[in-house]
Amino acid sequence: MTIIAQISDTHLMDVEPGDVRAPKRIEWLRRCVQDINSLNPGPDAVIHTGDMSQHGSHAEYILAREILTELNMPFYVTPGNRDSRAELKKVFSQDGYFQPDSIFLQYAVDVGPIYLVAIDSVCEGSRAGELCDDRLGVLDEMLNEKPNTPTALFMHHPPFEVLTSNEPFQFGSRDVVDKFADILRHHSQITQIFCGHAHRSFVSDLADTRALTVPSIAVDLRLDFPDTMDDTPAYQIHSLYPGHGFFSETRFVT
Ligand SMILES: [Fe+2]
Repeated sequence: MTIIAQISDTHLMDVEPGDVRAPKRIEWLRRCVQDINSLNPGPDAVIHTGDMSQHGSHAEYILAREILTELNMPFYVTPGNRDSRAELKKVFSQDGYFQPDSIFLQYAVDVGPIYLVAIDSVCEGSRAGELCDDRLGVLDEMLNEKPNTPTALFMHHPPFEVLTSNEPFQFGSRDVVDKFADILRHHSQITQIFCGHAHRSFVSDLADTRALTVPSIAVDLRLDFPDTMDDTPAYQIHSLYPGHGFFSETRFVT
């Protein structure tokens, strides 16, 4: 069994006097990191699926990195609409998995038998997701590298329509999601798609591939749990059993 823990939407902020959100969001991420480290068996890797920061400032990423380096296992990051690619690159390039010659933060790494592929779905200056031809081309190339390896895609914006949401579609254009779905159809090794952005848990399908979103660690921005859980951050662990798909579980950190 191979386990990937997914954390998302921490929306970390610089601490400002009188603003209670910043210290709580720091505390919620710290508690999740401690919980991940206490798991037995522990995850083989952790990935943050974006909106790590609230304002995209350098200080917010330094703070995030300081907390994330407490993890006992490798961790990876993907950008969300709140993030700054430039600042993420400055603070996290030292880990060596970003493609140095690309402005986009896309990459692929092996996590045991899983090929983890991270997709950059950000359109800077917009809340909506985007996948330009450059990014789709790189994605296709990464997938061609390992056609027979179980593959997990991680990206901030969910590419499926959330029919129960006030904003059902999170991409700027349906055209790009159609192109993305075509890529899925050509790569049957893709086992599942894991997203953030929704701040709540959804599961759906795109081109016969299961896709999900996870709750936000920023509890004050979370949309699906009752007020009694307003100090209970949550994240998900995804376990791949040989010969089966992923089994996903929400972890509540009390
Ligand atoms: Fe978010």
